[in-house]
Amino acid sequence: MAQQFSVPRGTADILPCEAGLWQEIEAKARRILANYNYKEIRTPVFEETALFRRSLGQTSEVVAKQLLELSSSGKEGFSLRPEGTAPVVRAYVENGIDRQESLTKLFYIGPMFRGERPQKGRLRQFHQIGVEVIGPGTWNPYLDAEVIALNVSMLKAFGLQGFRLKINTLGSCEDKENLSKELRQKLASERPRLCEDCQKRLEYNVFRILDCKNKECRAVVEDIHPDYGHLCPESRQYYDRLKGALNTMDITFDEVPYLVRGLDYYTHTVFEISDASLGSQDALSAGGRYNNLVSHLGGPQADAVGFALGMERVLLAMPSPSGAGSAPALTVYVIALDENVFPKAFHLLNTLRSAGIASDIGYKISSLKSQMRCAHKAGSCYAVILGEEENRKGVVAFKDMATGHQREAGLTELLEILKKGKV
Ligand code: HAM
Repeated sequence: MAQQFSVPRGTADILPCEAGLWQEIEAKARRILANYNYKEIRTPVFEETALFRRSLGQTSEVVAKQLLELSSSGKEGFSLRPEGTAPVVRAYVENGIDRQESLTKLFYIGPMFRGERPQKGRLRQFHQIGVEVIGPGTWNPYLDAEVIALNVSMLKAFGLQGFRLKINTLGSCEDKENLSKELRQKLASERPRLCEDCQKRLEYNVFRILDCKNKECRAVVEDIHPDYGHLCPESRQYYDRLKGALNTMDITFDEVPYLVRGLDYYTHTVFEISDASLGSQDALSAGGRYNNLVSHLGGPQADAVGFALGMERVLLAMPSPSGAGSAPALTVYVIALDENVFPKAFHLLNTLRSAGIASDIGYKISSLKSQMRCAHKAGSCYAVILGEEENRKGVVAFKDMATGHQREAGLTELLEILKKGKV
């Protein structure tokens, strides 16, 4: 027997019966993004591995454990993109976008790849809708508020409710360094309680301890009380102004002082939107500010802020995705009742399509009853039937699938009726 193949673990086919819902989500997102004046950017699905190492950090989980590297004979290694921020910043710098405009608002929709252990809501290929705002003039808490508001309004447009917005600030690079020292000090005395990985993290990246899922590590983290002592007055004021802006927009949020996020490029604002109904993988979206990444990747000093939401998680959290978002409706299903009239029916099909009328035909000539069943299944509004008798008279039988009403019409009349949408 011939070998059958399965979809790779941690990936999924999006079947025609599901694709309509994906298109609906994308269309809603695109409408909102246009309202906020964001422009689409499409970057390759793979990039130099070094780009991700430099942007996300050598010790981040994504780089250390999840990069899906492509084996290549060349010297330079490539990896499937695990996220969209680093590629967008690479494209921004490479194309000199900063020389064309001072404030750049970009969005992307597409697949990302992480070699994770698959579970509900955690895939190896998943899809993100993300935005990045980059430019020298983007150091403004109202812009962080805009990005968060955009994220919230998208989730609401998808029909999600009851999600929770968590925010925090890491402060500037220097503040982050102070926070790292403070955490190291506070956690050092608890070293024996930490898991093996976190004992190492204490040395090379203390922030990762705050994300550790181990129960005992979580308890240790909950015991250390944050006081925002690491923040300089400017960072503190920036954070206060962001909270003020969110309040004026009536966006409810929780401050979570040890929300740090798993990627190294963040400075100042970080946020995450979670939905408890999702279980352990509860983050619907996440983002924040990354004021040093552009210069770190060889570009000008440009501030930046963005977020990305996970489309599979949005679908899991949506009220009842099944049944919604059916495939686009077909207007006409052409039925040829025998081989002799098929060429004429085929010609009619192409005339209808050329006139912009969504039409199809079953290529298997069977009984009228069975072809009508196919027309129903295809969700067609009308059936146009051509048999010997109609052929002789130079007409077609034209049936409204909803009412069952049927009458004869000539081709010109048929086209007129369909174009006007009136039967
Ligand atoms: P992230 O938190 O790594 O951030 O991913 C953003 C979202 O992608 C998550 O909240 C989640 O919904 C989804 N996601 C991540 N990993 C998986 C997975 N394995 N399976 C399914 N969904 C997943 C970033 O990617 C940043 N680039 C966001 C950003 C943009 N920050 C600034 N600009």
